[in-house]
Amino acid sequence: MSLTNFATWMDSIQRRSELALAAVLPEASVAPTRLHEAMRYAVLGGGKRVRPLLVHAAGELAGATATRLDRVACAVELIHAYSLVHDDLPCMDNDVLRRGKPTVHVEFDEATALLVGDALQALAFQVISEAPLADAPSVQLDMLARLARASGSRGMAGGQAIDLEAVGKQLTREELEFMHIHKTGALIRASVSLGARCGSSLGPDAIERLDRYGKLVGLLFQVVDDILDAQSDTATLGKTAGKDADHNKPTYVTLLGLTEARALAESLLDEARNTLTPLGDGANRLDELATFIVHRRF
Ligand code: IPE
Ligand code: IPE
Ligand code: MG
Ligand code: MG
Ligand code: MG
Repeated sequence: MSLTNFATWMDSIQRRSELALAAVLPEASVAPTRLHEAMRYAVLGGGKRVRPLLVHAAGELAGATATRLDRVACAVELIHAYSLVHDDLPCMDNDVLRRGKPTVHVEFDEATALLVGDALQALAFQVISEAPLADAPSVQLDMLARLARASGSRGMAGGQAIDLEAVGKQLTREELEFMHIHKTGALIRASVSLGARCGSSLGPDAIERLDRYGKLVGLLFQVVDDILDAQSDTATLGKTAGKDADHNKPTYVTLLGLTEARALAESLLDEARNTLTPLGDGANRLDELATFIVHRRF
């Protein structure tokens, strides 16, 4: 167990993730240059890198090497970045600001933004299939399948479809939870589970616990995103504040109100932290990360 404090650890993972992403993305000078420039624009130089942080925290607990974790971290962050580029398109959330910069379709054009998403998704699967990342090939195949499921119509893309269908509607608490667990939760859950599978020091009980933790953190991540959209400002968020209300999106804030939504985030945090308790000090990073996710300002 490393003795560095959380902020230092987080900073070091964010830095190494940036370097790893810069290395796997094609150079902007390589043809087709405009597409590659836009891919780099979408991925590099911004974002909290929460998914890479979860990959590393779970992987460190499982005794995985940092080299393997860098690759998996890149894969999940590439899928995430692709989802943001498409989420911001005029046919989806129609957003002009992301990570403090103009969105990809504004800086480039819509067709390029579409292709950036396509290419980032393919690159993610290339990155996690080009080198050995688990002790057994069957485990790595399982990792690939998990990432595919988390990204597809029964995961993130499906959650995004529900999000679009839900505009202007009131969802029940169950329906809202289903939407959030899919559009945002699935990839966060996969980040924890893939990181853990890069090592082999965890038994089935610990793996099961981590999966439960990932599911809780995935939901609470979007609950907090809903809260921040309603109560923060554009400069702090680096993306347009108040757009859920403007677009008539059902969120935990519209369902419960700000105070109750905040209380829900805190209770999901307690549950996530309690899930980790039997895993001991090795799970401290995951504990700190869950706390960071709930108390973040953007
Ligand atoms: C924003 O994700 C979109 C959601 C899934 C809620 P993040 O808040 O992780 O965005 P970045 O990567 O830090 O920009
Ligand atoms: C985005 O949810 C979920 C995905 C990108 C898959 P939001 O639409 O709430 O994310 P932001 O608020 O635009 O970052
Ligand atoms: Mg959206
Ligand atoms: Mg959006
Ligand atoms: Mg949002």
